Amino acid sequence: MEIKIFEDAAALGLAAAEIFANQIKAKPDCILGLATGASPVPTYTRLIELYKAGEISFKDVSTFNLDEYCDLPKNDKNSYYTFMHENLFDHVDIKEENVHILNGNAEDTAREAADFDKAMAEAGGVDIQLLGIGNNGHIGFNEPADAFTTGTFKVQLTESTLQANSRYFDENPMPHYALTMGVGSIMSAKKIVLIATGAAKAQVIYDTVKGSVTPQVPASILQNHADCILLFDKAAASKL
Ligand code: F6R
Repeated sequence: MEIKIFEDAAALGLAAAEIFANQIKAKPDCILGLATGASPVPTYTRLIELYKAGEISFKDVSTFNLDEYCDLPKNDKNSYYTFMHENLFDHVDIKEENVHILNGNAEDTAREAADFDKAMAEAGGVDIQLLGIGNNGHIGFNEPADAFTTGTFKVQLTESTLQANSRYFDENPMPHYALTMGVGSIMSAKKIVLIATGAAKAQVIYDTVKGSVTPQVPASILQNHADCILLFDKAAASKL
């Protein structure tokens, strides 16, 4: 794992966007694996700037998002569908048919998960995957568990994740289930970029980087990936 430490979230966002922009320039029809949450917002903001400056185009890019809540309307303000459109897709020239976001309202979630994995495989797999990390070490919504997960599946969110994300939910209660790429799907990306900021992540960053590889800290499996870059601000890296 390669580690890079930045002064703050803004500087980290610029660096992460540059990695993704370089991937798009090198392979205009690349497959991006994308994340939601607070961490990637500066990265997406910078990618929009680079698009508007004419430096990159998403016209042949395809994307696969890590996860989506179950039982939340697609257009709810807290759905990851809405998040991705507001923070990236609505501002660049990506084709809607090239955007893949799990349908958390699918009647047959096992089928939805299998179709998603099939589409990802048929596209040739993810060239570069962006990841955030939960305070409990989750990547996607792969929560601490007794074994590493494999493909996309329906997960029950843990108390830690409910606490971390419930601040976004006011009128509607936060969903307790989500569909997520499995750890196996995430690890099959050719390149992985994990980003983390803030002192609240310092302990889990320490466990991810210096601890043993364990499904109790799902992100620790990244130690086994051949091409993984970790970008931290000073606060998140403070225990390393
Ligand atoms: C979101 C996702 C999650 C987040 C993680 C960190 O698609 O997969 O693993 O990356 O919960 O969230 P933030 O960035 O809000 O701290």
